[in-house]
Amino acid sequence: MNRIFKIRFRKKTCSSRRYFRGIFVCLVVASSILILIFLFALHIRKPAVFTLYTCLGSENPAAGLSVSNYEAFLQGHLCKHNFNDSVLNKHRLLDLEGDDVLIYLHIQKTGGGSFGRHLVHNLDVKFPCKCLPGIKKCDCLTKARRHWLFSRHATGWMCGLHADWTELADCIDVWFQHNDAKSRKHRIYHYLTFLRNPVHRFLSEWQHVHRGATWKAARLHCNGKGASLDEVPFCFSGVNWSGVSLDEFLSCKHNLAFNRMTRMLANLSKVNCYNHTGLSQEQVDQILLQSAKENLLDFAFFGILEEQRKTQFLFENNLGIKFITDFQQKDETHASHVEISDEMMQRVLEKNRVDIELYQYAKDLFLQRVVYTEKRLGQTVQEYFNHAQDALENSGADNKNVRKIQHEDEYDNEEEYVEEVNVYPGKGNIQAIR
Ligand SMILES: *[C@@H]1O[C@H](CO)[C@@H](O)[C@H](O)[C@H]1NC(C)=O
Ligand SMILES: *[C@@H]1O[C@H](CO)[C@@H](O)[C@H](O)[C@H]1NC(C)=O
Ligand SMILES: *[C@@H]1O[C@H](CO)[C@@H](O)[C@H](O)[C@H]1NC(C)=O
Ligand SMILES: *[C@@H]1O[C@H](CO)[C@@H](O)[C@H](O)[C@H]1NC(C)=O
Repeated sequence: MNRIFKIRFRKKTCSSRRYFRGIFVCLVVASSILILIFLFALHIRKPAVFTLYTCLGSENPAAGLSVSNYEAFLQGHLCKHNFNDSVLNKHRLLDLEGDDVLIYLHIQKTGGGSFGRHLVHNLDVKFPCKCLPGIKKCDCLTKARRHWLFSRHATGWMCGLHADWTELADCIDVWFQHNDAKSRKHRIYHYLTFLRNPVHRFLSEWQHVHRGATWKAARLHCNGKGASLDEVPFCFSGVNWSGVSLDEFLSCKHNLAFNRMTRMLANLSKVNCYNHTGLSQEQVDQILLQSAKENLLDFAFFGILEEQRKTQFLFENNLGIKFITDFQQKDETHASHVEISDEMMQRVLEKNRVDIELYQYAKDLFLQRVVYTEKRLGQTVQEYFNHAQDALENSGADNKNVRKIQHEDEYDNEEEYVEEVNVYPGKGNIQAIR
């Protein structure tokens, strides 16, 4: 009797254990599914604000293309990179009457036209540029007639239309030796540039080309010669590519719009310029990205189109020159009105993967520099501008409007359809070079 009970009891325990185990397994499975659904929801919900994440592969700036930087871009995040103080601290005092010269590297469709106009019309310097109505170029000379600004709006395209880093590095010094005041024996070149969200930049370039822009006069000069038509064939036959569809624009293998920011910032000699025979696309991408990052670190300054206030803050506090009128953040660009299919967007992303990598790196660097500078000043960006505003009001005078400037024609009206091109060192017709 006792034995039988025992056995029964044991049996009972045994079956109820199985019962509980079943429930336990069910609970584990159900909660795993819930967690997965939650993670998936997090993944597809794209936060509007960039937040800092430590992503694998992004800490080392020497690393090539990293999955995480690209993934982070898709999710609206920013990976945190390790930048040391010497990279973050770009504070210096420029002596434009002395050896210091500003060189503006203007990449198409980055909002650089507005910034270029700010440099000639809106800088609070001892010797402002002299601009005449109706004339594109201004005279930006010091009292000793030394050039302090090299840009499309100051000197003109003296190193070629939208000259890239490779062209400038080859030409700047020669140009200054021939054109600067003889009294100046040495020069220190401080490069400036502007970057923009690569997807918006690319779509904006497509729209600009759609309206008839070509930039076909660009020299693509490298290792002592321009790119040949075999190396970089035109994407269109005829005068221009107006009316081009996004599909066609994406389908042209030699479209210079792809990863334009990286190419224009890199030392192209490192990949044998425009002939990449013997290198895989992956190798070319990695070398160019690495080189663009290195050059960017060397630049005295770069701004970000999406961050006008912080751009102004960094410029003023790193280079020690203030603007007369504050920058305006405008959202109304052509690219933001474009509606394209998911499939097209996927292609745009893939074709601009290297620029996305560069932008993620640059944007993190930019924002870390803002934080660094805020700490140095003991003032946030907001406080800085409030303070400037207070000082202005207390002074009683409306200094800010002394020189009325025209930069209403923002980002997309860079009037690049017809360009006067002055190529140094006068090697004849640029069309002949290409
Ligand atoms: C800081 O980082 C840069 C770029 O990675 C590097 O070239 C430089 O040597 C570093 N400087 C110091 C002091 O570690
Ligand atoms: C583009 O080319 C077409 C002819 O193919 C011409 O009618 C049009 O004016 C050109 N547009 C520009 C901006 O040059
Ligand atoms: C690129 O260089 C290789 C080797 O030097 C040469 O054979 C090839 O013709 C060049 N390609 C173009 C498009 O010029
Ligand atoms: C560009 O890269 C080449 C090849 O590595 C190098 O020889 C050259 O000095 C670099 N150019 C500049 C201006 O640094």
